Amino acid sequence: MIVTWDPKLLVGNPEIDGQHQELFRRVDQLLLALQLGSVAAEVERVMAFVGEYVHLHFRQEEALMQRTGYPDRPAHVAEHLELIRSFVALKKQLGKTGPTPEFAATLGAALVDWLKEHIATTDTALGTWLSTHPGGAPRGPG
Ligand SMILES: [Fe+2]
Repeated sequence: MIVTWDPKLLVGNPEIDGQHQELFRRVDQLLLALQLGSVAAEVERVMAFVGEYVHLHFRQEEALMQRTGYPDRPAHVAEHLELIRSFVALKKQLGKTGPTPEFAATLGAALVDWLKEHIATTDTALGTWLSTHPGGAPRGPG
């Protein structure tokens, strides 16, 4: 494990927390592939595996925000877009230079640090909102 899930990053919503943990597992596989000096094609494959889940997770968070009328949705969505843009840039860099140590360092800063910061602040605020506005729960009783 290179990047480990920290329980301090729990936001209090089981759906989101579960997805964040899966995201960390995938990011860890990516960092491991880089550390092991995997060939470009393998790193690209794991990048796609991470990207797929990032999109799925962002879509679900954004749907929860919409369903519950979350007031800070525009700012939150803007942060998601920022990460998507960095991710696209990372993919381009990987295509150009291959999985160099510089690429690994950029990825660590752009992806891992961003995720931790976003979860600790922006997603935590959303988790607090969802705990008092459970309209996003899939078919709660009553
Ligand atoms: Fe988020």
